[in-house]
Amino acid sequence: MSPHPIFRDDLLAGQVGIVTGGATGIGLGISTTLAQLGMHVVLASRKPENLKAAVDGIVAAGGKASAVTVDVRDQERVQAMAKEVHDAHGRIDLLVNNAAGNFYAKSETLSANAWKSVIEIDLYGTFYCTQAVFPYMKANGGGRVVSTSMTLHYRGWPLMAHATAAKAGVDALTKTLAVEWAEHGIRVNAIAPGPIPTEGVRKAFTPPPGAPVPDVFSVDKAMETWAMAAIPLKRWGTPEDIGQMVAYLASPAGDWITGSIFVIDGGEWLAKSKPAN
Ligand code: COA
Repeated sequence: MSPHPIFRDDLLAGQVGIVTGGATGIGLGISTTLAQLGMHVVLASRKPENLKAAVDGIVAAGGKASAVTVDVRDQERVQAMAKEVHDAHGRIDLLVNNAAGNFYAKSETLSANAWKSVIEIDLYGTFYCTQAVFPYMKANGGGRVVSTSMTLHYRGWPLMAHATAAKAGVDALTKTLAVEWAEHGIRVNAIAPGPIPTEGVRKAFTPPPGAPVPDVFSVDKAMETWAMAAIPLKRWGTPEDIGQMVAYLASPAGDWITGSIFVIDGGEWLAKSKPAN
């Protein structure tokens, strides 16, 4: 639940949205926010156990949610998923392309399969899902697509060649489809989340087993110190921060917004891009 709800409870009532990777992390924050506003959220990802827990949580809180299993790299399965959702609900109003995969790795030794895995999830997956919902949105007189990008490719980010290349592609796809599909009433935008303390981030701040750490060391303190120094708005983001922006874009408030990429990061990337004194 957002600490600062600004939308009316039934803002998205009667609508159906698919959130890929919607069962965990930022995706779950997006799914939860949309469900709180009355949307029926279809969570789409690979792991049934994550999907069940997330759907149960949303339904227990009074929201409407269901699950479909899909690997966004599998175009046939993605097309079948879109059909299943449309058959079940008669409409698809929103697609959130949130599923992503990445890891830090040296480009000089990145295997072909490692490159392919990330490009296929982040870029191909975004295209496959977006293309799969197109006929249903067109037939319905319009729809909204929100894809998850990032800010790391604005400057270059060592050890992330695969993910930065993929997300630059997502940005380009967003702008191109926005223009191509405007005539069908389909708005296509993207969001670029900044640092959100997911499990992976916590792991990165946790010293490896056996490493010498002072008695007073705490992961929470280390994370807070980092946020105070690196993020101009001086806090980590939350999945709900991202969910609120998706809700805005899904709502009629976003009716004249297409082809835009919204950075939601407390000013982090701008501060990082300051020239050294
Ligand atoms: N460094 C270098 N290569 C890596 C790697 C790493 N940290 N992690 C995976 N790879 C390589 C694998 O070695 C494999 O290549 P190979 O066949 O040449 O050995 C290739 O990437 C595919 O890995 P695999 O784990 O089999 O793929 P997958 O399709 O099951 O999953 C990811 C791909 C990206 C989802 C997986 O690496 C992962 O779980 N990442 C962390 C979770 C994550 O990204 N969450 C989302 C955060 S935005």
